[in-house]
Amino acid sequence: MDHGTPRTVSLSAVPETLLWNLYHRSFAARQPSAAFEDPRSVALVDSIDYPFEETFGPPSPFLAQGQALRVLTFDAVVRDFLAEHPDGTVVALGEGLETQFWRVDNGRVHWLSVDLPETVAVRRDLLADGERRRTLACSALDPAWIEEVDTSRGVLVTAQGLLMYLRPAEVRELIARCAEHFPGGALVFDAVPRWFSARTTHGGMTTVQGYTTPPMPWGMNAGELSKVFTAHPGITEVREVPVPRGDGLFFGTVAPLARRVPGVRNLRPTMTVLARFAPR
Ligand SMILES: C[S@@+](CC[C@H](N)C(=O)[O-])C[C@H]1O[C@@H](n2cnc3c(N)ncnc32)[C@H](O)[C@@H]1O
Repeated sequence: MDHGTPRTVSLSAVPETLLWNLYHRSFAARQPSAAFEDPRSVALVDSIDYPFEETFGPPSPFLAQGQALRVLTFDAVVRDFLAEHPDGTVVALGEGLETQFWRVDNGRVHWLSVDLPETVAVRRDLLADGERRRTLACSALDPAWIEEVDTSRGVLVTAQGLLMYLRPAEVRELIARCAEHFPGGALVFDAVPRWFSARTTHGGMTTVQGYTTPPMPWGMNAGELSKVFTAHPGITEVREVPVPRGDGLFFGTVAPLARRVPGVRNLRPTMTVLARFAPR
């Protein structure tokens, strides 16, 4: 990463949302007592010329904690995978400027980051590829990225903050494609509930801080997890991944309880899901 002249970043629509995530993740990592360590995200924000505060509003400690807990949930899945497959391949679909590689690197993992060309141009400038880490400019909906994956030592596909921006049929096809091509592998993704998706479909949703998200056409309720099995016969397990307990009334008490209460659990704005695929 070049710490000289800030790199101007100009993205729009869904690619711009990666900056919202980065902004809040880095804010969480900057807190003196942060349980969440992500110095790369802090350095990234400091090296980018982009009107973060004008676009997304003042940083919100609440949203930042939510963002940190979400990525910690994904990190735990990646670490579990690496415990079983230390030389395995992580394919990060729609990775944006995620810095997960640096949070979980075991010195052996192989990493393939797949994103749209405009995002990849920014990522490559700011986070140059390394010996075990490659960036590919390719839509997750284009099956071409599959040919780039080394399947010899285990595969985990991650889709953090991506599937909600796709259409339902595209999500189904993507899940099926992963199950078909990565037997013995797994896919971890997050989903917004249907009410949340519905609120965004007419021009997006505006946050209290004044940022309007792009529409999120795909939503799935926590009570619908079993529907994921219908995407492909090779899917053997589908389960929600618990979010670590956070601080304060909401993240420390309400959110962990809400996960266990049918009906109420669908009110949560996001959940993380792990789908495993049968070996061939
Ligand atoms: C909300 S951001 C998430 C970024 C990152 N995963 C994170 O959690 O910080 C959405 C990301 O999806 C990417 N994206 C959108 N459509 C895509 C597609 N069809 N294929 C691959 N990436 C896509 C965007 O460029 C952006 O990086």
